[in-house]
Amino acid sequence: MLSMYKEQIDLTKVPKHVAIIMDGNGRWAKEKGLDRVFGHKEGAAAFSDVTEAAAEIGVKYLTAYAFSTENWNRPQAEVEALMSLLVSTIEKETDKLLRNDIRLCCIGDLSRLPKPVNEKLQGCIERTAHCQRMTIVLALSYSAKWEILQAVKSIASEVKNGNLNVEDICDDVFASHLNTNGIPDPDLLIRTSGESRISNFLLWQIAYSELYFTTVNWPDFRKEEFFKAICDYQKRERRFGKTSEQIK
Ligand code: FPP
Repeated sequence: MLSMYKEQIDLTKVPKHVAIIMDGNGRWAKEKGLDRVFGHKEGAAAFSDVTEAAAEIGVKYLTAYAFSTENWNRPQAEVEALMSLLVSTIEKETDKLLRNDIRLCCIGDLSRLPKPVNEKLQGCIERTAHCQRMTIVLALSYSAKWEILQAVKSIASEVKNGNLNVEDICDDVFASHLNTNGIPDPDLLIRTSGESRISNFLLWQIAYSELYFTTVNWPDFRKEEFFKAICDYQKRERRFGKTSEQIK
């Protein structure tokens, strides 16, 4: 399909890291009189589309909020459906990731995932570990407050063991204790479905990310919507606290 937005993208200014809060699967399904699980299935298809789009324009990291710590409180049937969707998606997509030189990694408290889900994930992570074109970061059983707390605990025990001086705790040291260690901060954060909030996602890492909110529900957020978001991002001036003149 000819893309109106894709041809407007300046390929020298593509965000290196795009993070996405994939919201609105349930509402998308409800509007169509379908069960919420159909929304999640279409959501997985949308993620596959957006992965392709991101790789096409040279995004290096694509992070997706696939399951939050708070999502464990959803009805058990929905949690189970999401877990089995995760397994079937990995089974379906791993070869495609390998063909396209895309690596998978995960952030979050994976120890809470059912064992078969965790094993599938680890298999895909290991098989794609050598891939270089782009990295997909799936946030699973993830919340930013959880991540920050475990970083605090890990730093505190290094101090206690005498391996770290309190005076040496700086931005970089703190970031190195987060799950996202080694991954650059997102340049752009996208949230779908008309909600304008962060919902406990990447609180430390998005300090200077550009935020893009759209009313489109996630299952309808396909390549063209992604390219549209990139075009919007490219119109912005990122000042990082400096004046407009300083960055020119
Ligand atoms: C939010 O929509 C979406 C989720 C909680 C799950 C996201 C999961 C997927 C997109 C499918 C699996 C993805 C991969 C990568 C395998 P919602 O259920 O909160 O929707 P609502 O706000 O309309 O109820």
